[in-house]
Amino acid sequence: MSTMTAQIEHALTLHGVTVCQAYRNALSALDDESYLPDSRLMLEVNRAMLARPVVAASRFRRHAAHEASGSRFIAFVAEKHAEGGLQRQLWKHAKDEARHSRIFTALAAWLAPGAARAPMEKPAGDDGAGDPSSFNGDIASFLVATHLAEIRNLALLGQYRSILAAAPGATNDRLRQVLDRVHADESHHVAYTAAHVSQQFEVSPRTSERFEWYVDSYVRDAWAEASIVCGNVACRSRS
Ligand SMILES: [Fe+2]
Ligand SMILES: [Fe+2]
Repeated sequence: MSTMTAQIEHALTLHGVTVCQAYRNALSALDDESYLPDSRLMLEVNRAMLARPVVAASRFRRHAAHEASGSRFIAFVAEKHAEGGLQRQLWKHAKDEARHSRIFTALAAWLAPGAARAPMEKPAGDDGAGDPSSFNGDIASFLVATHLAEIRNLALLGQYRSILAAAPGATNDRLRQVLDRVHADESHHVAYTAAHVSQQFEVSPRTSERFEWYVDSYVRDAWAEASIVCGNVACRSRS
């Protein structure tokens, strides 16, 4: 597995995005093992999850819900708070996330058709979505938060791809084929948001503080997610 910064650098090169040194300095924190989304611990959690179709299906349904709520939020910001090039990028981004939601829903149904909810899965309809109407219009914070969410997604998809590649077979090969397409979109999302965040590093001294705050926030989310997945793996291991 490449380091997190190597994965981001690859995305930037692929999409022709250049960034400032202050942005690069901030990224270096993501190569530490304490950055849970790309850690060895999370890799093992994801490996245990992907080996159990019902547990994987449950997690994919959660991904579907998060992708859908992300799509709604981004579309809201595009419509109400953005214009010009940024607005066009956000509209495309919102469409991509809506498509990812459909992909994860279909993968969950394919992996575990007719499966009951996993033990620690919330009832359908409760997707934990942030309410777009509560958005305060702070586009700078929104872009940093979105960028770090996309980096988290790149780490997640990167781990899924490497786990599936190491255990070839009809199901894993098919899954990897589909997830490769999602990964390619996430790579683009990381790259275009990096350009905006890099610009912020050049003009606003508050960007470092924002960046660190959202890194910590997504690490906390990853611990909560790992806890749900481990709970489902434990329940499935008993049955
Ligand atoms: Fe996505
Ligand atoms: Fe994305």
